[in-house]
Amino acid sequence: TYIVNENCINCKYTDCVEVCPVDCFYEGENMLVIHPDECIDCGVCEPECPPEAILPDSEPEATKWLDLNRDMSEIWPNIGQKIDEMPNAKAAESETGKFDKYFT
Ligand code: SF4
Ligand code: F3S
Repeated sequence: TYIVNENCINCKYTDCVEVCPVDCFYEGENMLVIHPDECIDCGVCEPECPPEAILPDSEPEATKWLDLNRDMSEIWPNIGQKIDEMPNAKAAESETGKFDKYFT
Protein backbone atom coordinates (compact mmCIF):
# COMPACT_ATOMS: atom_id res chain seq x y z
CA THR A 1 0.00 0.00 0.00
CA TYR A 2 0.87 3.64 -0.19
CA ILE A 3 0.41 6.09 2.66
CA VAL A 4 0.20 9.86 3.17
CA ASN A 5 2.56 11.47 5.67
CA GLU A 6 2.51 14.82 7.46
CA ASN A 7 3.81 16.70 4.41
CA CYS A 8 0.18 16.86 3.28
CA ILE A 9 -0.87 18.86 6.36
CA ASN A 10 -2.13 22.36 5.47
CA CYS A 11 -1.46 21.69 1.77
CA LYS A 12 -4.16 19.26 0.55
CA TYR A 13 -3.43 19.75 -3.12
CA THR A 14 -5.61 16.70 -3.94
CA ASP A 15 -3.82 16.01 -7.22
CA CYS A 16 -3.55 12.51 -5.75
CA VAL A 17 -7.34 12.17 -5.65
CA GLU A 18 -7.65 13.07 -9.30
CA VAL A 19 -5.43 10.20 -10.45
CA CYS A 20 -6.38 7.42 -8.02
CA PRO A 21 -8.24 4.67 -9.94
CA VAL A 22 -9.97 3.26 -6.85
CA ASP A 23 -10.89 6.43 -4.90
CA CYS A 24 -9.20 5.31 -1.72
CA PHE A 25 -8.41 8.77 -0.29
CA TYR A 26 -10.16 10.08 2.84
CA GLU A 27 -10.31 13.70 3.87
CA GLY A 28 -9.59 15.25 7.24
CA GLU A 29 -9.62 18.92 8.14
CA ASN A 30 -6.08 19.59 6.98
CA MET A 31 -4.77 16.38 5.43
CA LEU A 32 -5.74 13.30 3.43
CA VAL A 33 -5.02 9.66 4.14
CA ILE A 34 -5.12 6.48 2.06
CA HIS A 35 -7.12 3.42 3.11
CA PRO A 36 -4.42 0.75 3.14
CA ASP A 37 -6.81 -2.09 2.30
CA GLU A 38 -8.33 -0.27 -0.66
CA CYS A 39 -5.10 0.99 -2.25
CA ILE A 40 -4.10 -1.28 -5.16
CA ASP A 41 -0.47 -0.16 -5.12
CA CYS A 42 -0.55 1.35 -8.59
CA GLY A 43 1.78 4.18 -7.56
CA VAL A 44 0.36 6.83 -9.86
CA CYS A 45 -0.42 9.26 -7.03
CA GLU A 46 3.13 9.40 -5.67
CA PRO A 47 4.71 11.69 -8.29
CA GLU A 48 1.62 13.94 -8.41
CA CYS A 49 2.03 15.32 -4.88
CA PRO A 50 3.94 18.65 -4.72
CA PRO A 51 5.17 18.26 -1.09
CA GLU A 52 5.99 14.56 -1.67
CA ALA A 53 3.61 13.36 1.02
CA ILE A 54 2.91 9.98 -0.57
CA LEU A 55 5.18 6.99 -0.04
CA PRO A 56 5.00 3.23 -0.45
CA ASP A 57 4.85 1.55 2.95
CA SER A 58 8.02 -0.35 2.04
CA GLU A 59 9.93 2.87 2.79
CA PRO A 60 11.27 2.85 6.38
CA GLU A 61 9.93 6.34 7.08
CA ALA A 62 6.41 5.25 6.05
CA THR A 63 5.99 2.81 8.93
CA LYS A 64 4.95 5.38 11.48
CA TRP A 65 2.21 6.76 9.22
CA LEU A 66 0.57 3.47 8.31
CA ASP A 67 -1.58 3.20 11.46
CA LEU A 68 -2.67 6.82 11.14
CA ASN A 69 -3.76 6.22 7.54
CA ARG A 70 -5.69 3.10 8.54
CA ASP A 71 -7.34 4.66 11.60
CA MET A 72 -8.34 7.97 10.01
CA SER A 73 -9.62 6.36 6.80
CA GLU A 74 -12.17 4.52 8.93
CA ILE A 75 -13.44 7.84 10.35
CA TRP A 76 -13.00 10.53 7.71
CA PRO A 77 -15.21 10.83 4.61
CA ASN A 78 -14.08 9.58 1.23
CA ILE A 79 -12.95 12.20 -1.27
CA GLY A 80 -13.37 11.36 -4.94
CA GLN A 81 -12.81 14.73 -6.61
CA LYS A 82 -10.07 17.30 -6.63
CA ILE A 83 -10.71 20.43 -4.53
CA ASP A 84 -8.80 23.70 -4.12
CA GLU A 85 -5.61 23.46 -2.10
CA MET A 86 -5.50 25.04 1.35
CA PRO A 87 -4.99 28.86 1.51
CA ASN A 88 -1.34 28.74 2.59
CA ALA A 89 -0.44 25.53 0.83
CA LYS A 90 2.67 26.88 -0.83
CA ALA A 91 4.21 28.09 2.44
CA ALA A 92 3.19 24.90 4.23
CA GLU A 93 5.03 22.72 1.72
CA SER A 94 8.44 23.27 3.25
CA GLU A 95 7.36 23.42 6.88
CA THR A 96 8.55 20.59 9.14
CA GLY A 97 7.05 19.02 12.27
CA LYS A 98 3.53 19.69 11.02
CA PHE A 99 1.96 16.67 12.69
CA ASP A 100 2.83 17.83 16.20
CA LYS A 101 1.83 21.40 15.46
CA TYR A 102 -1.35 21.06 13.46
CA PHE A 103 -2.83 17.57 13.32
CA THR A 104 -6.48 17.72 14.39
FE1 SF4 B 1 -4.68 5.23 -5.28
FE2 SF4 B 1 -2.75 4.00 -6.64
FE3 SF4 B 1 -2.14 5.94 -4.92
FE4 SF4 B 1 -2.99 3.60 -4.02
S1 SF4 B 1 -1.08 3.96 -5.12
S2 SF4 B 1 -3.65 5.61 -3.33
S3 SF4 B 1 -4.48 3.01 -5.61
S4 SF4 B 1 -3.33 6.14 -6.83
FE1 F3S C 1 -1.97 15.89 0.17
FE2 F3S C 1 -0.28 15.66 -1.77
FE3 F3S C 1 -2.63 14.66 -2.06
S1 F3S C 1 -0.58 17.47 -0.51
S2 F3S C 1 -3.89 15.99 -0.85
S3 F3S C 1 -1.15 14.00 -0.58
S4 F3S C 1 -1.46 15.71 -3.63
